[in-house]
Amino acid sequence: MARCLVPALLFLFLLPVLWSFFPTGSRGSQDHDPARPANFGVGFDLAPTYGTAAVSYPNGTVRSIIKIDGDASYSEMMARLSLYSSQHLHRPYSYGEGVADLPRRLLRDMRMLLGLPASGDVYILSKMIKKLHTAAELLIGQPVASAEASIPDFACALYGEDIHEAFNYLGLNFYQFRKWDGYDFMYSSNGAYALHDPHICSNYTEPERCWKYTPTPGDPLARFPYILIVSYGYTYLESIALFGLYPIVEVPMPYNLTLGYNALQDAPNEEQYWERVRQYIRWSMGPSPPNVTRLLVTGDAAYVPKFKHALKEVTDSMWEHELEVFDSEPVFAAARGGAILTMREIWHRSHPGDDTNMVQELE
Ligand SMILES: *[C@@H]1O[C@H](CO)[C@@H](O)[C@H](O)[C@H]1NC(C)=O
Ligand SMILES: *[C@@H]1O[C@H](CO)[C@@H](O)[C@H](O)[C@H]1NC(C)=O
Ligand SMILES: *[C@@H]1O[C@H](CO)[C@@H](O)[C@H](O)[C@H]1NC(C)=O
Ligand SMILES: *[C@@H]1O[C@H](CO)[C@@H](O)[C@H](O)[C@H]1NC(C)=O
Repeated sequence: MARCLVPALLFLFLLPVLWSFFPTGSRGSQDHDPARPANFGVGFDLAPTYGTAAVSYPNGTVRSIIKIDGDASYSEMMARLSLYSSQHLHRPYSYGEGVADLPRRLLRDMRMLLGLPASGDVYILSKMIKKLHTAAELLIGQPVASAEASIPDFACALYGEDIHEAFNYLGLNFYQFRKWDGYDFMYSSNGAYALHDPHICSNYTEPERCWKYTPTPGDPLARFPYILIVSYGYTYLESIALFGLYPIVEVPMPYNLTLGYNALQDAPNEEQYWERVRQYIRWSMGPSPPNVTRLLVTGDAAYVPKFKHALKEVTDSMWEHELEVFDSEPVFAAARGGAILTMREIWHRSHPGDDTNMVQELE
């Protein structure tokens, strides 16, 4: 025991000295060379059992790049990090948390100093991100130095520091959307919403058109509608109504890991399963459902016709008016929207004199 203690203590004392020799800590906050800004934005979405990548070009073209199925360790990690019991202290800290978290942080920092991923989960994340990144470079035909990554809304124990340290490990820059938050990250629903939000500019061919959007009378957007976001995968069902307002919102997302499409096999009776799906969506709206006008559908099982049917039944029963449905890109929506947001950020940074907000402000 004592034999290990002395070198360990020595190492701790030397840590700040060693630190100064390694660029690891600051790499994440650096931007790419501003003299040669990228002319595309890349988005990765880290979904519960798979990952996707997409690219957005300034001319308005958005391309889906690849979907990569996670291995068993990836799916296990996502399921585990969706449990409240997996939560722990993490950066950024609230007052006093930093000291209590010191042992965990030291261990992670030491691993990073040794060139290792900060944790086992960071390693699993970095494996997925690396595959997405390789596919992105192949399709784009240029080096991809920076990207954005979104995570499942309900991954309550997956933190910004995990994503940033996975990017760091791979030598990639993470695009910060909130300048004040060094451990910024994005939820999948935000990315998916950005894809369909007409307020988010995706075409810079005639940039002045981006901020000249004026709502026509009767445009539901002008009144900030509620949007129902339903994500249906093989291992989960998520449903929430969000106030259709940007930027990024952070609220705990109701989800159920026993109502994914896989669970249909185990259900005693098919009709009962679909009834539980309908009940769940109804329940997620609370006792007095908001006046939802738009429906956004994501997830790799969202194509299932019986699911679409059940969803239509439940929304028809809840709202008298037809919802405006966005379900054309259930698997790639988050990565595509993330790519658009990244492109917008790049445009902002390469046009520093232009303070115009690319997010349309409506009266
Ligand atoms: C937009 O730019 C990309 C990349 O340069 C190109 O592949 C694509 O064809 C362009 N799209 C249009 C509509 O010009
Ligand atoms: C982007 O805008 C230009 C001109 O405004 C238009 O010609 C082009 O088709 C748009 N691109 C896409 C992908 O819609
Ligand atoms: C998930 O759904 C099942 C079936 O409707 C229900 O019994 C269970 O309590 C739900 N779990 C959560 C966490 O909501
Ligand atoms: C809900 O929204 C719809 C569509 O915008 C509208 O026709 C309806 O009057 C609204 N209902 C309420 C109760 O506000």
